[in-house]
Amino acid sequence: MVAEVLQGLQVQPDRTYVDATVGLGGHAEAILQQSSPTGRLIGLDQDPVNLAKARARLQPFGSRALLFHCNFKQLTEVLERCHLTAVAGILVDLGLSMEQLKVSGRGFSFGGDEPLDMRMNPETQTQTAAELLNTWPEADLSRIFWELGEERWARRIARRVVQARRQRPFQTTAQLVQTVLQAIPVKPSSRRLHPATRVFQALRLAVNQELEHLAEFLPQAIAALVPQGRLVVIAYHSLEDRIVKHTFLQAEKAGQVRRCQKKPLRPTPAEVQRNPSARSAKLRCVVKTAPGTDSAREEVM
Ligand SMILES: C[S@@+](CC[C@H](N)C(=O)[O-])C[C@H]1O[C@@H](n2cnc3c(N)ncnc32)[C@H](O)[C@@H]1O
Repeated sequence: MVAEVLQGLQVQPDRTYVDATVGLGGHAEAILQQSSPTGRLIGLDQDPVNLAKARARLQPFGSRALLFHCNFKQLTEVLERCHLTAVAGILVDLGLSMEQLKVSGRGFSFGGDEPLDMRMNPETQTQTAAELLNTWPEADLSRIFWELGEERWARRIARRVVQARRQRPFQTTAQLVQTVLQAIPVKPSSRRLHPATRVFQALRLAVNQELEHLAEFLPQAIAALVPQGRLVVIAYHSLEDRIVKHTFLQAEKAGQVRRCQKKPLRPTPAEVQRNPSARSAKLRCVVKTAPGTDSAREEVM
């Protein structure tokens, strides 16, 4: 959703933007092009492999791109290090990059057979998905499968995981897929979601504490915008989108921001055809309210 992001941020020449999930640098590159000749981009990512790829891609922009290996919950700290009090726009494109899913070898996908790691930042995070599965009590496993995966068979799967790990501790994604399939009375079908989808989502969210970090980040991002500055968030599942929607509504009620639109923007059918993983994307945008202005005045997008 590059066009929608640029429009949401209303990227201007010569201003400073943050891409809080720089990933492989696609959106960052578009922001740098649109803000040329002197616009700056501060890019954050907690995945060192993705960040190295973004660094190579953004190298032609020289000192206009400044990248940091960190979690976006450290936004305020990073801006202080850059001697900045506020920026013109902030983008967050949540979730995983295709690189992480398909080639990282860290077990984010149930398609192959990889070590059950799922850490986005293996340099600072200590608990892998395998460790979580092998050590957490059954009740906690059941809770995360239910709350973070919205998995209807959460209890059955948690019970089966605890039985299976007594025989052989979990090490690989294939072991987990097999255990899920043994636990539930549903067979895989090409028409439905793969039965392991929700358990994999729950584990990934738990290992990386994704919802907690998003909730910590959003108020910092709103505080870090100049008046009329813009925050654009792309979410890919209902749990993260709910946090974004709720935070934006609360901030609007408090007079801090104005929502750019009531309903989130969705990718066009052409974009979904080009990139099927974009199908669940929801883009929400807010504008920071300038003190003393009518927050409902300007209509955008
Ligand atoms: C969907 S990708 C972003 C793709 C990017 N917009 C692009 O154009 O290439 C999401 C990225 O966010 C990173 N990420 C997820 N949660 C993060 C967090 N809490 N702090 C920093 N980076 C995070 C992931 O490592 C991943 O690289």
